[in-house]
Amino acid sequence: MALSVQPIKGSFVGEVELPDLRQIDDATVVELRQAWNQYQILILRGLKMDEGAQVAFSQRFGDLEIHVRTEYLSREHPEILYVSNMKDETGRTIGILSDGEVGWHYDQIYLPGPAVGSFLVAHTLPKEGGATSFADMSLAYEKLPHATKEIIEGRKAVQSYEAFNSAYSVPTSGKQRKQTPDIEHPIVRTHPVTGRKALYICPGMTIAIVGLPEDESRALLDELFAWTVRPEFVYTHKWRAGDGVMWDNASTMHRREPFDVNEQRLMKRTTILPPAELAVPF
Ligand code: SIN
Repeated sequence: MALSVQPIKGSFVGEVELPDLRQIDDATVVELRQAWNQYQILILRGLKMDEGAQVAFSQRFGDLEIHVRTEYLSREHPEILYVSNMKDETGRTIGILSDGEVGWHYDQIYLPGPAVGSFLVAHTLPKEGGATSFADMSLAYEKLPHATKEIIEGRKAVQSYEAFNSAYSVPTSGKQRKQTPDIEHPIVRTHPVTGRKALYICPGMTIAIVGLPEDESRALLDELFAWTVRPEFVYTHKWRAGDGVMWDNASTMHRREPFDVNEQRLMKRTTILPPAELAVPF
């Protein structure tokens, strides 16, 4: 099959015509991989996917992460993380990032081998649909003034899952905190497949630039963060029932936009790990 991809925002976002992912063959997976290298975000509409199908589909792109927030995983398919404000019969919220503001972040930037891709499928949406925004961190890097590129060249930043949870989520357990200590990664990440460079920092989790005095580090981070969310780098996806969005997590940061907290929302995410041979994925 020749995959049809409609560009939505330059080479950043493309919409794929592919109604039933349960029937895709190997050749289509190859085409989808190629499309995902060409576009950092692929939008799939009209999905009819149960959890088993989402896991099987996602595994065509790599091994899947089991998220450290085990309390928000599907019991049947622990590769699936619920992002939701819905509650179970005991009154417990079933998902991570339940409602309210969520800061810009890269999934799992706080791990030694951070995710290369994420696939989020909409199940229950607020009446207005709600939205998630994505920033093109490759283009944001490419368009940086030369002088700024020189300043950040070879530098690392500190990534903190704890900082994100304090601001946007319920606290992690002691065990989870031990599993996710603050970690340093290069500020510029090279994409493992395309070789394109991207800014690998995000307001939600990046707390400092290594080796700079605190005030300089804060000022440079704030300048970079303001740059990365300029409208020319951002795409906002307005969700429809049955939508799935695959994003390149090596070059795209994202944030869920606020929605009416009286409405219910359930999204299911699978997260794709870097290939094993990329022990240090930068
Ligand atoms: C996420 O941050 O991984 C989920 C975003 C969303 O729920 O829109």
